[in-house]
Amino acid sequence: MKVLVTGVTGYIGSHTAVELLAEGHDLIGIDDFSTSSPKVKHDIERVAGRPFTLLDLDLRNRCEVECLLASGEFDAIIHFAGRKFVGESVAEPMQYYERNLAASVSLAAAAQRHEISHVVFSSSCTVYGQPTQLPVTEETPIAPVSPYGRTKAMTETVLQDLCDATPSASVLALRYFNPIGAHPSALLGEVPSGPPNNLLPYIMQVAKRVRPFLNIYGGDYDTHDGTCIRDYIHVVDLARAHVLALDRAAETTGFEALNLGTGIGSSVLDVLEACEKATGRAIPHQIVDRRPGDAASMFADPSRAQQLLGWKAEANLPEMCLDHWNFERNLDVDALSA
Ligand code: UD1
Repeated sequence: MKVLVTGVTGYIGSHTAVELLAEGHDLIGIDDFSTSSPKVKHDIERVAGRPFTLLDLDLRNRCEVECLLASGEFDAIIHFAGRKFVGESVAEPMQYYERNLAASVSLAAAAQRHEISHVVFSSSCTVYGQPTQLPVTEETPIAPVSPYGRTKAMTETVLQDLCDATPSASVLALRYFNPIGAHPSALLGEVPSGPPNNLLPYIMQVAKRVRPFLNIYGGDYDTHDGTCIRDYIHVVDLARAHVLALDRAAETTGFEALNLGTGIGSSVLDVLEACEKATGRAIPHQIVDRRPGDAASMFADPSRAQQLLGWKAEANLPEMCLDHWNFERNLDVDALSA
Protein backbone atom coordinates (compact mmCIF):
# COMPACT_ATOMS: atom_id res chain seq x y z
CA MET A 1 0.00 0.00 0.00
CA LYS A 2 0.98 3.62 -0.36
CA VAL A 3 0.75 4.90 3.18
CA LEU A 4 0.84 8.40 4.63
CA VAL A 5 2.44 8.34 8.08
CA THR A 6 2.02 11.47 10.21
CA GLY A 7 4.55 12.01 12.99
CA VAL A 8 6.90 9.59 11.24
CA THR A 9 10.10 10.72 12.95
CA GLY A 10 8.62 10.40 16.46
CA TYR A 11 9.17 7.51 18.85
CA ILE A 12 6.41 5.15 17.73
CA GLY A 13 6.22 6.56 14.19
CA SER A 14 9.86 5.78 13.45
CA HIS A 15 9.64 2.19 14.69
CA THR A 16 6.45 1.64 12.73
CA ALA A 17 8.03 3.09 9.58
CA VAL A 18 10.73 0.42 9.79
CA GLU A 19 8.15 -2.37 10.05
CA LEU A 20 6.05 -0.94 7.19
CA LEU A 21 9.08 -0.60 4.90
CA ALA A 22 10.15 -4.14 5.79
CA GLU A 23 6.70 -5.38 4.73
CA GLY A 24 7.08 -3.68 1.35
CA HIS A 25 4.74 -0.72 1.85
CA ASP A 26 5.60 2.62 0.24
CA LEU A 27 5.75 5.50 2.69
CA ILE A 28 5.31 9.21 2.55
CA GLY A 29 6.12 10.48 6.03
CA ILE A 30 5.30 13.90 7.39
CA ASP A 31 6.40 15.66 10.56
CA ASP A 32 6.71 19.22 11.81
CA PHE A 33 9.83 18.24 13.83
CA SER A 34 8.53 20.07 16.90
CA THR A 35 9.41 17.09 19.10
CA SER A 36 11.65 15.07 16.79
CA SER A 37 14.44 15.50 14.26
CA PRO A 38 14.55 15.06 10.47
CA LYS A 39 17.82 13.16 11.04
CA VAL A 40 15.71 10.18 12.17
CA LYS A 41 14.89 9.58 8.48
CA HIS A 42 18.42 8.37 7.88
CA ASP A 43 18.23 5.96 10.85
CA ILE A 44 14.87 4.55 9.72
CA GLU A 45 16.26 3.94 6.24
CA ARG A 46 19.44 2.40 7.63
CA VAL A 47 17.49 -0.07 9.76
CA ALA A 48 14.88 -0.85 7.10
CA GLY A 49 17.30 -0.88 4.15
CA ARG A 50 14.82 1.08 2.03
CA PRO A 51 14.20 4.77 1.39
CA PHE A 52 11.02 6.76 1.91
CA THR A 53 9.88 10.33 1.32
CA LEU A 54 9.84 12.74 4.25
CA LEU A 55 8.04 16.09 4.14
CA ASP A 56 8.16 18.97 6.61
CA LEU A 57 4.48 19.61 7.20
CA ASP A 58 2.49 20.93 10.15
CA LEU A 59 -0.92 19.25 10.22
CA ARG A 60 -2.50 22.48 11.43
CA ASN A 61 -1.81 23.90 7.95
CA ARG A 62 -5.05 22.81 6.31
CA CYS A 63 -4.12 23.99 2.80
CA GLU A 64 -0.92 21.95 2.75
CA VAL A 65 -2.73 18.88 4.10
CA GLU A 66 -5.42 19.27 1.47
CA CYS A 67 -2.83 19.58 -1.33
CA LEU A 68 -0.90 16.55 -0.14
CA LEU A 69 -3.96 14.33 0.13
CA ALA A 70 -5.35 15.58 -3.20
CA SER A 71 -2.18 14.66 -5.05
CA GLY A 72 -0.81 11.74 -3.03
CA GLU A 73 -2.99 8.81 -4.20
CA PHE A 74 -2.71 7.25 -0.74
CA ASP A 75 -4.30 3.94 0.13
CA ALA A 76 -4.14 4.52 3.87
CA ILE A 77 -3.08 6.86 6.67
CA ILE A 78 -1.39 6.00 9.93
CA HIS A 79 -1.85 9.00 12.18
CA PHE A 80 0.66 9.41 15.02
CA ALA A 81 1.29 13.16 15.07
CA GLY A 82 0.35 14.88 18.30
CA ARG A 83 1.41 15.80 21.79
CA LYS A 84 1.31 13.27 24.64
CA PHE A 85 1.94 14.82 28.03
CA VAL A 86 -0.82 14.99 30.60
CA GLY A 87 0.75 17.76 32.69
CA GLU A 88 1.52 19.91 29.63
CA SER A 89 -2.05 19.40 28.40
CA VAL A 90 -3.45 20.74 31.67
CA ALA A 91 -1.22 23.82 31.44
CA GLU A 92 -1.74 24.40 27.69
CA PRO A 93 -5.04 22.75 26.73
CA MET A 94 -5.51 24.78 23.53
CA GLN A 95 -2.21 23.45 22.16
CA TYR A 96 -3.63 19.97 22.60
CA TYR A 97 -7.03 20.77 21.12
CA GLU A 98 -5.33 22.38 18.10
CA ARG A 99 -2.53 19.89 17.56
CA ASN A 100 -4.31 16.67 18.54
CA LEU A 101 -7.99 17.26 17.89
CA ALA A 102 -8.40 20.03 15.28
CA ALA A 103 -5.50 18.74 13.17
CA SER A 104 -7.00 15.23 13.26
CA VAL A 105 -10.42 16.54 12.22
CA SER A 106 -9.00 18.35 9.18
CA LEU A 107 -6.90 15.30 8.28
CA ALA A 108 -10.00 13.07 8.52
CA ALA A 109 -12.08 15.51 6.48
CA ALA A 110 -9.43 15.66 3.75
CA ALA A 111 -9.14 11.86 3.81
CA GLN A 112 -12.90 11.59 3.29
CA ARG A 113 -12.85 14.12 0.43
CA HIS A 114 -10.08 12.23 -1.33
CA GLU A 115 -11.51 8.78 -0.63
CA ILE A 116 -8.66 7.50 1.49
CA SER A 117 -10.66 4.86 3.29
CA HIS A 118 -8.24 3.20 5.70
CA VAL A 119 -6.95 4.89 8.83
CA VAL A 120 -4.96 3.60 11.79
CA PHE A 121 -5.06 6.05 14.67
CA SER A 122 -2.61 6.36 17.54
CA SER A 123 -4.83 6.41 20.62
CA SER A 124 -3.97 5.76 24.25
CA CYS A 125 -5.13 3.89 27.34
CA THR A 126 -5.42 7.36 28.82
CA VAL A 127 -8.95 7.43 27.31
CA TYR A 128 -10.01 5.15 30.19
CA GLY A 129 -8.97 7.66 32.87
CA GLN A 130 -8.89 5.93 36.25
CA PRO A 131 -10.43 2.52 35.50
CA THR A 132 -12.38 0.83 38.27
CA GLN A 133 -11.98 -2.67 36.87
CA LEU A 134 -8.88 -4.55 35.79
CA PRO A 135 -7.70 -5.70 33.36
CA VAL A 136 -8.91 -2.88 31.12
CA THR A 137 -10.99 -4.14 28.19
CA GLU A 138 -12.24 -2.09 25.25
CA GLU A 139 -15.65 -2.06 27.00
CA THR A 140 -14.21 -0.29 30.06
CA PRO A 141 -15.93 3.13 30.14
CA ILE A 142 -14.20 5.98 28.33
CA ALA A 143 -13.60 8.58 31.04
CA PRO A 144 -10.49 10.64 30.35
CA VAL A 145 -9.29 12.90 33.16
CA SER A 146 -7.03 15.33 31.29
CA PRO A 147 -7.20 17.52 28.17
CA TYR A 148 -4.70 15.14 26.54
CA GLY A 149 -6.94 12.15 27.24
CA ARG A 150 -9.99 14.05 26.03
CA THR A 151 -8.30 14.89 22.71
CA LYS A 152 -7.67 11.18 22.15
CA ALA A 153 -11.22 10.19 23.13
CA MET A 154 -12.74 12.99 21.03
CA THR A 155 -10.66 12.07 17.99
CA GLU A 156 -11.86 8.49 18.31
CA THR A 157 -15.44 9.79 18.31
CA VAL A 158 -14.78 11.89 15.21
CA LEU A 159 -13.35 8.86 13.40
CA GLN A 160 -16.25 6.70 14.53
CA ASP A 161 -18.71 9.25 13.09
CA LEU A 162 -16.68 9.32 9.88
CA CYS A 163 -17.04 5.55 9.58
CA ASP A 164 -20.76 5.68 10.34
CA ALA A 165 -21.25 8.17 7.49
CA THR A 166 -18.85 6.55 5.00
CA PRO A 167 -19.65 2.92 4.16
CA SER A 168 -16.22 2.25 2.63
CA ALA A 169 -14.24 3.66 5.57
CA SER A 170 -12.32 1.60 8.10
CA VAL A 171 -10.57 2.97 11.18
CA LEU A 172 -8.58 1.10 13.80
CA ALA A 173 -7.89 3.12 16.94
CA LEU A 174 -4.98 1.55 18.79
CA ARG A 175 -5.02 2.28 22.51
CA TYR A 176 -1.42 2.03 23.64
CA PHE A 177 -0.55 1.18 27.19
CA ASN A 178 3.03 2.22 28.18
CA PRO A 179 5.45 1.96 25.25
CA ILE A 180 9.10 1.62 26.25
CA GLY A 181 12.26 0.09 24.80
CA ALA A 182 13.99 0.87 21.53
CA HIS A 183 14.90 -0.82 18.29
CA PRO A 184 17.35 -3.71 18.96
CA SER A 185 19.77 -2.09 16.48
CA ALA A 186 20.05 0.78 19.02
CA LEU A 187 19.61 3.20 16.11
CA LEU A 188 16.04 4.24 16.94
CA GLY A 189 14.48 5.11 20.27
CA GLU A 190 12.86 7.87 22.26
CA VAL A 191 14.78 11.12 22.54
CA PRO A 192 13.06 13.20 25.21
CA SER A 193 13.27 16.94 24.77
CA GLY A 194 13.99 18.49 28.16
CA PRO A 195 13.57 16.65 31.46
CA PRO A 196 11.60 13.45 30.81
CA ASN A 197 8.07 13.05 32.15
CA ASN A 198 7.89 9.32 31.58
CA LEU A 199 9.43 6.71 33.82
CA LEU A 200 11.85 4.86 31.54
CA PRO A 201 13.62 7.87 30.03
CA TYR A 202 14.00 9.30 33.52
CA ILE A 203 15.45 6.09 34.97
CA MET A 204 17.91 5.84 32.08
CA GLN A 205 19.13 9.39 32.63
CA VAL A 206 19.71 8.56 36.30
CA ALA A 207 21.64 5.46 35.18
CA LYS A 208 23.76 7.73 32.95
CA ARG A 209 24.31 10.11 35.88
CA VAL A 210 22.67 12.96 33.93
CA ARG A 211 20.22 13.23 36.83
CA PRO A 212 21.04 12.39 40.46
CA PHE A 213 18.06 10.22 41.43
CA LEU A 214 14.59 9.05 40.50
CA ASN A 215 11.58 10.37 42.37
CA ILE A 216 9.06 7.57 42.76
CA TYR A 217 5.63 9.13 42.87
CA GLY A 218 3.93 7.40 45.78
CA GLY A 219 4.82 4.34 47.84
CA ASP A 220 1.48 3.83 49.55
CA TYR A 221 -0.74 2.60 46.71
CA ASP A 222 -2.76 -0.57 47.14
CA THR A 223 -0.33 -2.69 45.08
CA HIS A 224 2.14 -5.48 45.95
CA ASP A 225 4.94 -3.03 46.82
CA GLY A 226 3.03 0.24 47.21
CA THR A 227 4.14 1.73 43.86
CA CYS A 228 1.96 2.20 40.77
CA ILE A 229 1.44 -0.62 38.30
CA ARG A 230 1.50 -0.15 34.52
CA ASP A 231 1.49 -2.36 31.44
CA TYR A 232 4.83 -1.68 29.72
CA ILE A 233 5.05 -2.80 26.10
CA HIS A 234 8.05 -2.92 23.77
CA VAL A 235 7.83 -0.26 21.08
CA VAL A 236 8.73 -2.81 18.38
CA ASP A 237 5.81 -5.03 19.45
CA LEU A 238 3.62 -1.96 19.20
CA ALA A 239 5.03 -1.11 15.76
CA ARG A 240 4.33 -4.63 14.49
CA ALA A 241 0.69 -4.26 15.54
CA HIS A 242 0.33 -1.24 13.23
CA VAL A 243 1.28 -3.26 10.18
CA LEU A 244 -1.33 -5.88 11.08
CA ALA A 245 -3.88 -3.16 11.82
CA LEU A 246 -3.25 -1.71 8.38
CA ASP A 247 -3.89 -5.12 6.79
CA ARG A 248 -7.10 -5.45 8.78
CA ALA A 249 -8.23 -1.93 7.87
CA ALA A 250 -7.82 -2.85 4.19
CA GLU A 251 -10.08 -5.88 4.63
CA THR A 252 -12.86 -4.47 6.81
CA THR A 253 -15.11 -1.46 7.19
CA GLY A 254 -16.23 0.44 10.26
CA PHE A 255 -14.55 1.57 13.47
CA GLU A 256 -12.69 -0.67 15.89
CA ALA A 257 -10.71 0.18 19.02
CA LEU A 258 -8.03 -2.20 20.27
CA ASN A 259 -5.95 -2.27 23.43
CA LEU A 260 -2.25 -2.78 22.81
CA GLY A 261 -0.53 -4.03 25.94
CA THR A 262 1.07 -7.18 27.26
CA GLY A 263 -1.61 -7.87 29.86
CA ILE A 264 1.12 -7.91 32.53
CA GLY A 265 1.34 -5.22 35.19
CA SER A 266 4.73 -4.13 36.58
CA SER A 267 5.27 -1.73 39.46
CA VAL A 268 7.67 1.20 39.44
CA LEU A 269 9.99 -0.81 41.71
CA ASP A 270 9.77 -3.84 39.37
CA VAL A 271 10.86 -1.59 36.49
CA LEU A 272 13.62 -0.04 38.56
CA GLU A 273 15.00 -3.47 39.44
CA ALA A 274 14.85 -4.61 35.78
CA CYS A 275 16.69 -1.42 34.75
CA GLU A 276 19.37 -1.91 37.39
CA LYS A 277 19.99 -5.39 35.95
CA ALA A 278 19.92 -4.15 32.34
CA THR A 279 22.31 -1.29 32.98
CA GLY A 280 24.47 -3.01 35.58
CA ARG A 281 24.23 0.20 37.60
CA ALA A 282 22.57 1.18 40.87
CA ILE A 283 19.78 3.68 40.30
CA PRO A 284 19.41 6.01 43.29
CA HIS A 285 15.77 6.72 44.11
CA GLN A 286 13.48 8.10 46.74
CA ILE A 287 9.76 7.82 47.38
CA VAL A 288 7.98 11.17 47.20
CA ASP A 289 4.34 12.29 47.15
CA ARG A 290 1.91 10.82 44.67
CA ARG A 291 1.67 12.54 41.26
CA PRO A 292 -1.83 14.00 40.86
CA GLY A 293 -3.96 12.06 38.40
CA ASP A 294 -1.99 8.79 38.54
CA ALA A 295 -4.09 5.62 38.66
CA ALA A 296 -2.81 3.00 41.14
CA SER A 297 -2.99 0.18 38.63
CA MET A 298 -3.53 -0.04 34.90
CA PHE A 299 -3.02 -3.03 32.65
CA ALA A 300 -4.66 -4.27 29.49
CA ASP A 301 -6.74 -7.17 28.43
CA PRO A 302 -5.11 -7.44 24.98
CA SER A 303 -7.20 -10.42 23.85
CA ARG A 304 -9.21 -8.50 21.25
CA ALA A 305 -6.03 -7.44 19.43
CA GLN A 306 -4.84 -11.03 19.56
CA GLN A 307 -8.12 -12.29 18.17
CA LEU A 308 -8.58 -9.68 15.42
CA LEU A 309 -4.98 -9.02 14.40
CA GLY A 310 -3.35 -12.33 15.33
CA TRP A 311 -0.94 -10.17 17.36
CA LYS A 312 0.67 -10.72 20.71
CA ALA A 313 3.36 -8.71 22.48
CA GLU A 314 6.51 -10.82 22.70
CA ALA A 315 9.21 -8.91 24.59
CA ASN A 316 9.43 -9.18 28.38
CA LEU A 317 10.39 -6.42 30.81
CA PRO A 318 14.15 -7.26 30.99
CA GLU A 319 14.34 -7.22 27.16
CA MET A 320 12.52 -3.87 26.99
CA CYS A 321 14.84 -2.31 29.57
CA LEU A 322 17.96 -3.66 27.86
CA ASP A 323 16.95 -2.34 24.44
CA HIS A 324 16.02 1.01 25.97
CA TRP A 325 19.42 1.20 27.66
CA ASN A 326 21.38 0.17 24.55
CA PHE A 327 19.83 3.08 22.67
CA GLU A 328 19.96 5.63 25.47
CA ARG A 329 23.55 4.96 26.56
CA ASN A 330 24.81 6.36 23.23
CA LEU A 331 22.71 9.54 23.31
CA ASP A 332 24.47 12.86 23.64
CA VAL A 333 24.45 13.91 27.30
CA ASP A 334 24.17 17.62 26.45
CA ALA A 335 21.00 17.00 24.47
CA LEU A 336 19.50 15.18 27.45
CA SER A 337 20.29 17.65 30.16
CA ALA A 338 18.50 20.53 28.44
C1 UD1 B 1 1.78 8.81 30.92
C2 UD1 B 1 0.56 9.63 30.75
C3 UD1 B 1 -0.30 8.97 29.70
C4 UD1 B 1 0.46 8.89 28.39
C5 UD1 B 1 1.74 8.11 28.62
C6 UD1 B 1 2.61 8.20 27.37
C7 UD1 B 1 0.19 10.74 32.93
C8 UD1 B 1 -0.61 10.75 34.18
N1 UD1 B 1 -0.11 9.76 32.04
O1 UD1 B 1 1.35 7.53 31.40
O2 UD1 B 1 -1.48 9.72 29.50
O3 UD1 B 1 -0.30 8.24 27.41
O4 UD1 B 1 2.48 8.69 29.70
O5 UD1 B 1 3.63 7.27 27.44
O6 UD1 B 1 1.06 11.57 32.69
N2 UD1 B 1 6.81 7.64 37.65
C9 UD1 B 1 7.63 7.88 38.73
N3 UD1 B 1 8.64 8.78 38.59
C10 UD1 B 1 8.88 9.45 37.42
C11 UD1 B 1 8.02 9.17 36.30
C12 UD1 B 1 7.00 8.28 36.45
O7 UD1 B 1 7.45 7.30 39.80
O8 UD1 B 1 9.81 10.27 37.36
C13 UD1 B 1 5.74 6.64 37.78
C14 UD1 B 1 4.36 7.22 37.58
O9 UD1 B 1 3.82 7.65 38.78
C15 UD1 B 1 3.62 6.02 36.98
C16 UD1 B 1 4.69 5.21 36.27
O10 UD1 B 1 5.93 5.68 36.77
O11 UD1 B 1 3.12 5.23 38.01
C17 UD1 B 1 4.66 5.42 34.77
O12 UD1 B 1 4.68 6.81 34.53
P1 UD1 B 1 4.75 7.41 33.06
O13 UD1 B 1 5.89 6.83 32.32
O14 UD1 B 1 4.68 8.89 33.17
O15 UD1 B 1 3.46 6.82 32.35
P2 UD1 B 1 1.91 6.99 32.75
O16 UD1 B 1 1.71 7.95 33.82
O17 UD1 B 1 1.35 5.64 32.95
